[in-house]
Amino acid sequence: MQIKTPVLFINFKTYEQSTGENAVKLAKAAEEAANEVGALVVLVVQAADLRLVSSSVSLPVFAQHIDPVSFGSNTGKTLPEAVKAAGATGTVLSHAENKQNNEFIEKAMARAREMGFDVMVCAEDLERAKQIAAMNPKPDLIAVEPPELIGGDISVSTAHPELITDSVKAIKEIAPGIEVITGAGIKNQGDVAKAIELGTVGVFVASGIVKAENQKEAIIDLLRGLKQ
Ligand code: G3P
Repeated sequence: MQIKTPVLFINFKTYEQSTGENAVKLAKAAEEAANEVGALVVLVVQAADLRLVSSSVSLPVFAQHIDPVSFGSNTGKTLPEAVKAAGATGTVLSHAENKQNNEFIEKAMARAREMGFDVMVCAEDLERAKQIAAMNPKPDLIAVEPPELIGGDISVSTAHPELITDSVKAIKEIAPGIEVITGAGIKNQGDVAKAIELGTVGVFVASGIVKAENQKEAIIDLLRGLKQ
């Protein structure tokens, strides 16, 4: 894995506040915050904004998705080569909002490996986390995110601490090299610190940052949780 941990992944999703020129503003806020706190941030950006964002900041940029296709006739697909040329160094796969089956995930991971990408696959529960950990090739990271908490105000660290500890234990038993991230409803440094205490190497956050009145302050607050 090219990225260092502990780490804050910011999911830009397709919010208005994180699309196009707003994506650049958020990326710059994240870069300033990361420099001020001395912590790592990875930006997870929609395909159409990858080049714009990666050329504006020096933080690592991940795609939100790739398709397991190669050059050719694949209308509407996200080509891994194009994502790499646009500046991404990694990709997320099977986010809860863009869920894929296991066959798709394995094929997409194989293409990601050919590109030299870091790979983070999302899991909605413990069972899926175990299935993903057993796949070949293996991801670098598994992000455990209970879908019902995504976008809400109750964090996974508060609502389901056992899901985090059980996932970390199960994943490490199956594949010790895979790192675990969690996300859903994470809003403050207490949520982040708790996630780290429960065995993760970082968090995956969207609304708590993207929708914040002051995005940079929100990022600084969360990054402090990584360092507690
Ligand atoms: O990918 C992270 C995301 O699904 C969590 O979203 O808005 O609950 O931070 P949010």
